[in-house]
Amino acid sequence: MTVTLAQEKDTRRLDVGALVPEGTHLVGGEWVPAESGEVIEVINPATKELLSTVARGAAADVDAAVDAAAAALRAWRDTSPTVRGQLLYKWAEVCRAHEQEIDLLERLEVGRPSWGPSGIPGILTYVAGLADKITGQTLPTSMPNMLGLTLREPYGVVGSIIPWNTPGPLTIADVAPAIAAGNTIVVKPAEDAPLTPLLLGKLALEAGIPPGVVNVVTGYGPEAGAALPAHPGVRRMSFTGSPETGSKVMEACAKNLIPLHVELGGKSPQVVLRDAPLDRAIPTIVRAITFNTGQVCAAGSRLVVDATIHDQVVEALAGAFEKVTVGPWYEKVDMGPLISAKQEARVLGYLDAGRKEGAKVVTGGHKLSGEKFDPGFFVEPTIFDAVTPQMRIAQEEIFGPVLSVLTYDDEQEALAIANGTRYGLVSSIWTTDVGRAVRLARGIEAGQVGINTTWSRGVIGAPHGGYKHSGFGRTMSADSILDYTQLKSVVIDGNV
Ligand code: NAI
Ligand code: MG
Repeated sequence: MTVTLAQEKDTRRLDVGALVPEGTHLVGGEWVPAESGEVIEVINPATKELLSTVARGAAADVDAAVDAAAAALRAWRDTSPTVRGQLLYKWAEVCRAHEQEIDLLERLEVGRPSWGPSGIPGILTYVAGLADKITGQTLPTSMPNMLGLTLREPYGVVGSIIPWNTPGPLTIADVAPAIAAGNTIVVKPAEDAPLTPLLLGKLALEAGIPPGVVNVVTGYGPEAGAALPAHPGVRRMSFTGSPETGSKVMEACAKNLIPLHVELGGKSPQVVLRDAPLDRAIPTIVRAITFNTGQVCAAGSRLVVDATIHDQVVEALAGAFEKVTVGPWYEKVDMGPLISAKQEARVLGYLDAGRKEGAKVVTGGHKLSGEKFDPGFFVEPTIFDAVTPQMRIAQEEIFGPVLSVLTYDDEQEALAIANGTRYGLVSSIWTTDVGRAVRLARGIEAGQVGINTTWSRGVIGAPHGGYKHSGFGRTMSADSILDYTQLKSVVIDGNV
C-alpha cells in the first residue's frame, strides 16, 4: 500500500483515494460500486471540502455482502482458533504500522484534532489473545458411561451498524470479537464517516484475514442500514447510535428473530461532592464534555454539584472552558467542529431550548464565527447553569460540547438527579470520602462508574455498555467475545 502524506504539512492532507478506492465499498474482499452505481460524498466537517465518495449501498448490496460472508464462513469457522488469533495479532501489527494514516483519515472525516497514539492496535491485541480461550464446560451426568459437555460455536454471519463519532475503534470493537469467535461479519458504517471502517477492512485483508470474513457496506441508514438486521442470512446484530434508530433495528431483529446488542448513548453525570479533589476534577470534567466536541456516547454532560461549592466549581469550570481551544484537524487544539450540518442544527437547537427554559449561559452558547470557523460546523463549548432536572438540556442527549449544571443539597438528592434520566451509561463521582464513594457507586444506575476519574481510563478490557435506555450487552471485555457465540450441549453415550 502506498500512502502519501503530503510533505509540506503532513498533518493536513492524506491521499485518501490511495487508501480507500473512491466510490466503492468492500464486499468479499473486492472494492465494488453499489449495485445502483450511486455514491455518497464524504466531507471534512471543518471545511466542507469533499474528501472522497463511497458506494451508496442498499438492500441488493447488503445481499451481496451477506452472501460473501456466508461463503467465507465455513473455512473461517473451521480455522484453528490459534490461527484466528494470530491473524488478529497480525491485523493489530498492520494497524500499528499504518497508525498515522488511520488516525489522519479518521481526523479528516470526523474533524477532530490528534489524540496521540490510536487505541485500535491495543483492542485488537486484547481480543486476539481471547480467540483460543473460548471454552465450554463438562457437565455432571446421572449415569456412568455418559459424558455431557458444552461447545461455544459462532452464530454465523453477523451484522454491525456503527455511528460516525469514533468510527475506527467502534468498528474494531464489534468486528474483532465477532471474527475471533469464528463468525463472519457485515459492517454498515455511518454515512458521515465511512472511510476509516473501509480502511480497516482493507488492512484486515493485508493482514491475511481471508476475503469475505470482514465486509463493509456503506450507505444510508434507511437503505443499507435497514436491510442488514432484516436479512434472513444474518444471525446476530449489534447496533451503536441513537435510541430512536436502535429501536427500529431492534424491531427488525424481532421480526427476523435474531439477538442483538445495543449501545445508545447517555446523559452521564459528573457528581461533585463537597470534599471533591477539585484540582483533578475540573480539568477532567472539562475534557469529558469537550473531547470529540462532546460527540461521545460517554460524554459527561451533566454536572451534579453540592450547592455549597456550586459557585466555586462553576467559576473554575468557566475559566477552564474559556481556555478550550477550537480549530480544524491540523491544529493542536482541544476541540474540532461537529460532524455535520444536521448535528450542528441539533446542538444549536438545544442551546436555544436551554435559554427558553430559563437556564443561564455561563460561557459559550453560540456558533463560532470568523475566517477559521465559517467554513465548518464549529460551536462554542458551553456551560448552562441553573438547570433543573426536568429541562430538556438535563434530560436529552445533546451530543455536543454543552454542560448542564444542576445542584443538590444532600446525597439522596444527588443520587436522584444522577439517576433521573432515561439513560445510564457512564457516571463519575468526585469525593475523597470512601464511604460516600462506595454508597454512590452502588446506587448509581449506570454501566460504568468512575470514582475520581472518568470512563474506564487506565483499565484494560473493562466491560462497556449501558443500563436503562443506554442499551444492553457489553463490549470490550473478556465476556464480550462470548456474546458472539451460541451454546451447544453435546451428550455422548458410552454404552456402545
Ligand atoms: P443514528 O442512530 O441515526 O445513526 C447511527 C447509525 O445507524 C448510522 O450508521 C446510520 O446510518 C444507521 N441508521 C440510521 N437509520 C437506520 C435505520 N432505519 N436502520 C438501520 N440503521 C440505521 O444517529 P444519528 O442520526 O447519526 O445521530 C443522532 C443522535 O444519535 C446524535 O445526536 C446522538 O445523540 C446519538 N448518537 C449516539 C451515538 C452513540 O455512540 N451512542 C453515536 C451517534 C449518534
Ligand atoms: Mg440518523
